[in-house]
Amino acid sequence: MKKIVSRNIEALKGTITIPSDKSISHRAVIFSSLAKGKSVIKNFSDGQDPHSSLEICKMLGIEAEFTEDKLIINSNGKLEKKHDIFDCGNSGTTMRLMAGILARQNFSSILTGDTSLSARPMKRIIEPLTLMGAKITSNDFKAPLKITGNKLHAIHYNSKIASAQVKSCILLAGLGVENEFTSITEPYISRNHTEIMLKNMGADINTDGTTVSIKKSNLIPIDITIPGDISSAAYFITAALIIPNSKIIIKNIGLNPTRTGILDIVKEMGGNIKILNKYETGGEPAGDISVEYSELKACKISGEVIPKLIDEIPIIAVLATQSDGDTVISGAQDLRNKESDRITTVVNGLKSLGADIEETTDGMIIHGKTELSGGCEIETCHDHRLAMSFFVAGLICKKEITINGFEWVNISFPNFEELFLKLF
Ligand code: S3P
Repeated sequence: MKKIVSRNIEALKGTITIPSDKSISHRAVIFSSLAKGKSVIKNFSDGQDPHSSLEICKMLGIEAEFTEDKLIINSNGKLEKKHDIFDCGNSGTTMRLMAGILARQNFSSILTGDTSLSARPMKRIIEPLTLMGAKITSNDFKAPLKITGNKLHAIHYNSKIASAQVKSCILLAGLGVENEFTSITEPYISRNHTEIMLKNMGADINTDGTTVSIKKSNLIPIDITIPGDISSAAYFITAALIIPNSKIIIKNIGLNPTRTGILDIVKEMGGNIKILNKYETGGEPAGDISVEYSELKACKISGEVIPKLIDEIPIIAVLATQSDGDTVISGAQDLRNKESDRITTVVNGLKSLGADIEETTDGMIIHGKTELSGGCEIETCHDHRLAMSFFVAGLICKKEITINGFEWVNISFPNFEELFLKLF
């Protein structure tokens, strides 16, 4: 689907509520499937990715029903082999988390994905799972993954990358290992939704700095209201910061500190952003944010903040085109392994819109501030975050742009454009 975006808006004004967090939605449905009894999930994501997780849980014998605003999960605490092949669609989180669980079942299964997911690296989970005794064959460390269920044993794993998907995969495998603790240490802390939710469900799980450990535990069901997704809010935050005279309030955003790197960076760049009405939901901090158009300055983005804003780098690159000076993003080489190679796709896309931007091996350098000329067609490359980032860029381009493959927004944010229209 083609989407034409142009600059004919005055300013963004008003209040919106951000839809459900994708990462927490995946975990809520997958972990409830492992808990004996009835779990209630409010504000489950409409995105295709969390629905891939839900469908797989249903194929594994879990009862799931939507009533009004709730998703009710009923499980006897065990997964059943009712099917052989589980399609994870575009969702890396589904594939990597499910692999950790399926590796310790007493049956075999195959995890498949779409073209983008089938090109993404799975060595990062195959290696630690194999060390735990898992039997996995793959297409040169890529999907499809053929998993022959096995009894696993505990390991301590030193991960070279800070990845919540790798960490969660290992922890979910370790959740089935009796008596011994399985642990993982990462170079920097990645998002910790798994740790928070498993702890709330009664798991024997502990965090010590960048190390998390777990052992066999029986999970109790949850009753959770999922907050809004800060990764989805990032497009509105950026648009309000770069479109003159804008002033908006975004309600119901998850504010877990392992996810709020974008807020830290925006403050450093001089953005006028405030957190209002903080509260807690499902053990996760949340609140509202007010954002106003701001004169921005460039900044350096590297090190431990990278995992805290990894999914926001495409939209931060758009923001940096409107900030004075050179924004240097480094230490983000894992961006090349996302739904697209987000270093190359973001740099090429923004360059075609008129940005002054350079690709580096582990990031990019954006020379600002530049007026974006637009007047071209741009590709989303099977990547929802590119579709949404280019949409925001299109709102400030001199000439209209055409985004090809705009339907990819449905992966995480089906009512993305509808919410924007509320603010025009
Ligand atoms: C996610 C973790 C991140 C992120 C992805 C969702 C998760 O991936 O990019 O969109 O829900 O655990 P990595 O853990 O591979 O960095």
